[in-house]
Amino acid sequence: MNTLFLVLFLTTISLSLCQESPDPVRDIDGNLLRSGTEYYILSVVRGMGGGLTLGATRGELCPLDVVQENQEVDNGLPLTFTPVNPKKGVIRESTDLNIIFQAQSICVQSNVWGLVKYKGHLIVSALGMPGNPGQETINNWFKIRKYDDDYKLVYCPTVCSLCRPVCGDIGVKIAENGSRRLAISDVPFKVISIKTSYNMMKPTVQISYVLFLAFIITTQSIPSTSASEEVVYDVTGKKVLNNVPYYLGPVIWAKGGGIKLTDTKNTKVCPPYVVQDPAEVNIGGQFRFTLSAYNQKYLLTSYGLGIDSGSPKKGSCYNSTYWRIPDTEAKAPSNLIRTGGAFETAVSCFQVVDYPKPTSPKVHSYMLQHCPSFCGAGPRTCFNVSLYEEKGVRYLASSGTTPFEFVFQKPK
Ligand SMILES: *[C@@H]1O[C@H](CO)[C@@H](O)[C@H](O)[C@H]1NC(C)=O
Ligand SMILES: *[C@@H]1O[C@H](CO)[C@@H](O)[C@H](O)[C@H]1NC(C)=O
Ligand SMILES: *[C@@H]1O[C@H](CO)[C@@H](O)[C@H](O)[C@H]1NC(C)=O
Repeated sequence: MNTLFLVLFLTTISLSLCQESPDPVRDIDGNLLRSGTEYYILSVVRGMGGGLTLGATRGELCPLDVVQENQEVDNGLPLTFTPVNPKKGVIRESTDLNIIFQAQSICVQSNVWGLVKYKGHLIVSALGMPGNPGQETINNWFKIRKYDDDYKLVYCPTVCSLCRPVCGDIGVKIAENGSRRLAISDVPFKVISIKTSYNMMKPTVQISYVLFLAFIITTQSIPSTSASEEVVYDVTGKKVLNNVPYYLGPVIWAKGGGIKLTDTKNTKVCPPYVVQDPAEVNIGGQFRFTLSAYNQKYLLTSYGLGIDSGSPKKGSCYNSTYWRIPDTEAKAPSNLIRTGGAFETAVSCFQVVDYPKPTSPKVHSYMLQHCPSFCGAGPRTCFNVSLYEEKGVRYLASSGTTPFEFVFQKPK
């Protein structure tokens, strides 16, 4: 990258003030933005596209540049911020930051945001170098600035006293083939940030270095739904215990809450179904996964198991609390998961497998399959468990298309 050129080019871009302000940046919940924590950057304006992600914008497969998702419902990829002083844990306004996507891609690239010149535009690529503030890395530092009541992203680095780059706002510019590419623009992109539901990384001094290594490793070993048995990990990276209750929740907490049983108090639904709580604030119920094998301390993937919703409650409705699917190949409601099953029977036989394309490479996420043949008679295949929505209720069901990606969380 020709730094000198960039500096000259930027002088022609509309000036905006480069004042320093020590205010901390806050996420949508009002919490302080932290270094190393994963966030999504979303557009404030509804109907104007979704979150930020990587996309091919140059008519070739690689490299990938920073683009906005076309669909508002897509949050894009999680990313982290590392301030110019990596010892600072809180992200502040108008501070130079590295912005790093936490994702894998088919292209060999760092996923660190950096400004590059492409066909007369200054676009945001993901080919930057983390850290090492100075003239050589001047294209890789961005800032978050207050914009009305929200924020915008700006390019206005102050990492080099001799360089005199001029600030420019980051906005969306439509590329030749229609992708919503991020670039220096007169119209800033008004953003908010949302914290991802789970964060395993604590801020560390050399965070960007660690993440860069993590990227290289993850591009070389893409997880798959392999048939090998491996220990299952919870969201904090601890081994999931066999036969012990856990919460089950989505990776992106903003897309609904935890898994629970339908309420049978006010309805005549009996036995209860297994559903996802529509509200992200609700963590749901606790469920015990028990392998069909004796003396196992930890839960394993690719191994037959039963799922128990807890000890039977009083009343006529509750019988056995083991999950079951009466007919896994039928349509709803026969393929919906409900209780009333029994351990080690075909209708109640499941397995946990790694989620093939995890939302975050740092979080262990899984999918569930119904495998009647593992515990008795039945088709010799396994059926993905996915969400099936009807009248606003999100049931867990088999024979779905996209499997439900979930994580284990240990109750405190
Ligand atoms: C733009 O082109 C790339 C590769 O040629 C493709 O992957 C991408 O989906 C295209 N984007 C749109 C919005 O058509
Ligand atoms: C519990 O389930 C068993 C077997 O499915 C059934 O025979 C019994 O009637 C059920 N009891 C209640 C109270 O629903
Ligand atoms: C189950 O989900 C995986 C991962 O999305 C997919 O590759 C596979 O085709 C699905 N299986 C069935 C039977 O739909």
